[in-house]
Amino acid sequence: MTRAAIHPSILNADQSRLAEELTRVSSADGLHLDVMDNHFVPNQFGGPSLVETVLARTDLAVDAHLMITDADRWAPQYAEMGCAVVTAHLEATTAPFRLAKELRRLGAGVGLALRPATPLSAVTHLLSHIDLLLIMTVEPGFGGQSFIEEMIPKIAQARRLVGSAGLELRIQVDGGVTGSTIVRAAEAGADVFVAGSAVYGADDAAAAIGELRDLAAA
Ligand code: DX5
Ligand code: ZN
Repeated sequence: MTRAAIHPSILNADQSRLAEELTRVSSADGLHLDVMDNHFVPNQFGGPSLVETVLARTDLAVDAHLMITDADRWAPQYAEMGCAVVTAHLEATTAPFRLAKELRRLGAGVGLALRPATPLSAVTHLLSHIDLLLIMTVEPGFGGQSFIEEMIPKIAQARRLVGSAGLELRIQVDGGVTGSTIVRAAEAGADVFVAGSAVYGADDAAAAIGELRDLAAA
């Protein structure tokens, strides 16, 4: 399996010191940028201007996690801006095949995210058209929530499906990732880990990233 990747989520960073907060996580494997519209989720965060600011100030590959309705309309601009992966929620797109094609045409990797209550069967037919499957391990909307343990079998089922189909896509988990939950998520088959509070809540963010990576690889 490819090496475990740790993607800090800047939702949990101190927004008043963004440049420093980006420097603190420069040893990460990528940067996770949440976008929330106060409609798809009961919170508002990010958007095109924050994404542009972050892209201009980091060398890390950015994956944009769009927790917004009408992703078909709003997602392509994040590919145009230069996000490495643009992840839309399956529940927020009515034309996922077309969206995937469009994001690829614009040069971005394609991610699809599932809310905890959305079964894996809803995305099976799309797996060969995407680069990253995001299995939410909390209800999207806020940092600092507890990992939903019932998502472990879903991750394992996704890994089996991806393996049996011989696909290359990465399996990302987001929400409640800690030194303890990352071990179970990695064992189940996830290989990209979003970590908000676990990284930004640590005194030494670089050490926290290294520890999480080691735990996921153990
Ligand atoms: C929540 C966001 C997450 C959030 C994770 O809806 O999608 O990316 O920042 O934060 P933690 O790691 O604290 O659960
Ligand atoms: Zn996220």
